[in-house]
Amino acid sequence: MIEGILFDMDGVLIDSEPVILHAAMTYFERIGVTVQSEDFTPFIGAGDKRFLCGVAEKYGVSIDFEEARETLFSLYATYAMDRGPLEGVHRFISNARKAGLKLALATSAARTKAEINLRAIGLTESDFDCMVTGESIKRNKPNPDIYQLASLSMGLPPQECLVIEDAINGIRAGKQAGCSVCAVATTFSVSELVDAGADYVLSSLDAFEDFNSIEELGMILSASKGKDDRVVYGANKILEASSPLRGEQALLDLAIEQAYEARKNAYTPYSKYKVGAAVVSSATGRVYSGCNVENSSYGATICAERNAILNAITNEGTIGISLLVVVSEDVPPAPPCAQCLQVLAEFSRKDTAVHLVDVAYAEGRKGSHVAYRFEELLPHPFIFPTMRS
Ligand code: THU
Repeated sequence: MIEGILFDMDGVLIDSEPVILHAAMTYFERIGVTVQSEDFTPFIGAGDKRFLCGVAEKYGVSIDFEEARETLFSLYATYAMDRGPLEGVHRFISNARKAGLKLALATSAARTKAEINLRAIGLTESDFDCMVTGESIKRNKPNPDIYQLASLSMGLPPQECLVIEDAINGIRAGKQAGCSVCAVATTFSVSELVDAGADYVLSSLDAFEDFNSIEELGMILSASKGKDDRVVYGANKILEASSPLRGEQALLDLAIEQAYEARKNAYTPYSKYKVGAAVVSSATGRVYSGCNVENSSYGATICAERNAILNAITNEGTIGISLLVVVSEDVPPAPPCAQCLQVLAEFSRKDTAVHLVDVAYAEGRKGSHVAYRFEELLPHPFIFPTMRS
C-alpha cells in the first residue's frame, strides 16, 4: 500500500526546464560559448553540477561551478516568477494531504533553487513532511540515494512510496530505490518514460483522479495497470486530454495550420481530391500531420487521417490522441472515412475532438467548420476483447 508520495520538483511541480534552460543558455552566452538546447538533455534531472559542467565539458571549457551556479540562480530567480505550478499540482497535493499520505519533496537541485520554485508556485516547505535537496546527497539521480533518504526520513520503507517524476534519470532512481514510479509526460515522451521503467504514465498530475483515502489512491493505481503490469494505453483507456505546452485554442489553430500545410503535399493524380489531417498527442501536446497518398492500385491508397496517426505513433510510440483536424475542399467539410475512424478508435477517447474544416476556413476566410466528439462519428468501434475497459 502506498503511504507516502515523493515529489521530484522540476518538471513535476513547476515547468522549470524551459526556465533553467533559458538561464543556462544565457550564462554560456555571457561567457562567450554558443551552446544548443539539446546539449542539456542528457543532464536533465541529474543535478545542477552535471547540468552545467556536463555541457561545459562537451565544449572543452572549464568553468568555476560555484560562480556559474550563482549567475544561473540569479537569472533563474528572475525568469521563474512568471511560471505558475503545473496543472493539477495543488489539487493532487491537497488530495494526498486529506488522504493522510506523507509528502516529501526530493530534488537533486540546490535548496536555493527549490525555495525559488516553491515561492513561484505558491507552496512552502511546511506543505511537505520532509524536503531533501541536492546538498544532502553525494550521488545524484539515477542513483537511488535521494529517494531512499526521503522515504526513510518520513519513516516509510521505499516500497510504500510513490515517486512522481518527469525525467529518465529520476525514474531510474525511484525504481532502484524500490519505490513505485508515476511519470508525467512534461519533459519526455510517453514511450521514453515507459522504457525507463515508469509504472504509470500520466499526461500531467491533472489527469490523476480525485481520491480521499490511501485505499482510494491504491484503487486508482491498480486500476490503471495493464495485464503486463504496465500502463495501459490504447482503446478508450488513454489519459484525459491535456496539453502542457499550449492552450486549447492555440493547439487547434496549430493543428489546422499543419493539416492545411500537409494537404498541399497530397498525392492525388487519380481523384484530384486533396485532404490534410493533423492529430495532437494527448501526452505531449505535439502535433503530427499527414496527407492522402493515392496508388495505381487504388485500394492501396492511404487517407490523410491514417497517415497523420501513423506519423504520431512513429514519433511517440503508443499515444493517445486528444484532437484530430481534417482539412478538405468539401462544404460541409468531409468527415474521416470508416477505416480511418476505426484506426482512430485504437488511440482515442470517446471525447476526443474531431474538427472538420474546409480550405477557406483554414486560410482564415469565411469558411466551414464543424466539430464532433469521436463517439458521435463512431459510436460502436470494434475493440479487441483484451483491450476493452
Ligand atoms: N480520403 C482521405 O484522405 N480521407 C478520408 O477520410 C476519405 C478519403 C482520400 C483518399 C483518396 O485519396 C481521396 O480522398 C478520394 O477518396
